[in-house]
Amino acid sequence: MPKIRLDKFLADRGVGSRRELKDIIRSGRVSVNGVPVREAERKLDPEAEQVSLDGELISAPRLRYWMLDKPLGVVTATEDAREKTVLDLLPPELRRLGLFPVGRLDKDTSGLLILTNDGEFAHRVISPKSAVEKCYYAKVDGELNEEDVDAFREGLVLRDGTRCLPAKLELLEPGACLVRVTEGKYHQVRRMLASRGKPVLELRGMSVGTLELDEGLGPGGWKELDEKDLCRLFSPDPMGNMSKNPTVF
Ligand code: URA
Repeated sequence: MPKIRLDKFLADRGVGSRRELKDIIRSGRVSVNGVPVREAERKLDPEAEQVSLDGELISAPRLRYWMLDKPLGVVTATEDAREKTVLDLLPPELRRLGLFPVGRLDKDTSGLLILTNDGEFAHRVISPKSAVEKCYYAKVDGELNEEDVDAFREGLVLRDGTRCLPAKLELLEPGACLVRVTEGKYHQVRRMLASRGKPVLELRGMSVGTLELDEGLGPGGWKELDEKDLCRLFSPDPMGNMSKNPTVF
């Protein structure tokens, strides 16, 4: 969205005339992103910036949601001194929106990652209480079997003693599977499979809720998500439990 002057932005919202606003702004009553701004001519991006008058919010940035096919070798962070981040994959106009990743994929994990500027939404997706299922495709060193499936269903205890919530393991081939979890502990899927003596060789995020990775995007590709896509994230979870906190968009 093109930038507009702060006084025009406030005038368009009926806060006052351009003349009155000049004084209001000069007196320091208007803040942009929490910082007082005294220049009426300050250029503003209403999609990305938050404006308040006397501490009252006048406009908040529009909440936006993006799907990214995270390539290997990129870190899930908004900035990093040495490594390329998932945000570096986006063009500058999207990087300005204050997006951040929902959850985390390891540097050597590829696949579905959601980016948003909606903190409440991100919390709901990540929280185990919401029981939003995250599905990963894994190739492992070794052969998976029905005992592994049972162990995942019962709730694994990792090598360091951490207890995991019950999860689903679906065997595809002896050395490949789908893993479905409703929590996101550090390196969780790798550690779960390692605890069964089957270290991960390859890991790819496939879906979050019933929102599936669009394989047409290709590594590093992205697309904006709409309301329909987001509702699907919070549909009754496929593990059979209704979410304790059903979300309405
Ligand atoms: N679990 C992992 O171990 N790594 C990921 O990147 C995602 C889930």
